[in-house]
Amino acid sequence: MDEIEKWIKNRDENQLTKDEEKIFDEIGLNGTSRRKFLKQMSAASLSICASSYLTSDLLASPARALPDNPKVLLNEVKVNLKVNDMVKQLALDSRTSLLDALRERLELTGTKKGCDHGQCGACTVMVDGKRKLSCLTLAATCEGKEVTTIEGLAENGNLHPMQQAFLKHDGFQCGYCTPGQICSSVALLEEAKRGEASYVTEDFKEVKTDLKLSEEEIRERMSGNICRCGAYNNIVQAFKEVHSGDDEMPTWEFATSEQMEKAKNS
Ligand code: FES
Ligand code: FES
Repeated sequence: MDEIEKWIKNRDENQLTKDEEKIFDEIGLNGTSRRKFLKQMSAASLSICASSYLTSDLLASPARALPDNPKVLLNEVKVNLKVNDMVKQLALDSRTSLLDALRERLELTGTKKGCDHGQCGACTVMVDGKRKLSCLTLAATCEGKEVTTIEGLAENGNLHPMQQAFLKHDGFQCGYCTPGQICSSVALLEEAKRGEASYVTEDFKEVKTDLKLSEEEIRERMSGNICRCGAYNNIVQAFKEVHSGDDEMPTWEFATSEQMEKAKNS
């Protein structure tokens, strides 16, 4: 950088090449105006050179520090996180969300960050078997609990039945919401077994276990998981199949050619 600066500063009109002199003559820059122009050009060149130096510095800089070694840690707390049956001790800023701890520190990036405000459900994981929005959960509060993420559902190389059902029924398009949808669905199976009530439970007085959820109930209970691709019908079908244990057939059908024609003419 010093070399370039020196070169630009030392460059005056006496060092101009023949071609440069010709250009200056052609555009009518002589004497004082030529010296002023050269001075301004030097300043501009300096900043252009500086920017390319900075850019190449940035490009050449080593990859960012490994997740386990954050450079600055405020309000440090040590947390033993048990995730997918593995215990890891992490030094965390006390304000770290479970979502950030999973993604940034444990590199479990299956759990997705959608809104980061508890509104989309993309970050859903299970904590002690219950669904939780990891973006609204402090990692430090999970000490001593069991966290299960989408990476922990398969066993011995076999997908969880809910994962298989999502594949079978095409319960996704872009797949961004899918880890959250699947974790939510798996936890919902257990909620139904425990007999937990929901907004659409008809009779709160009669508490039953092993609930058989209607389609309406499934939709209500899964309403915290948004799918921007609109794969809802297939998600519900996948859930119903695992919940009932029966083969589920689509409840929709392709339009007939007469119906298509009618729609075209209407
Ligand atoms: S990222 Fe947590 S609810 Fe959207
Ligand atoms: S599959 Fe794309 S957001 Fe749900």
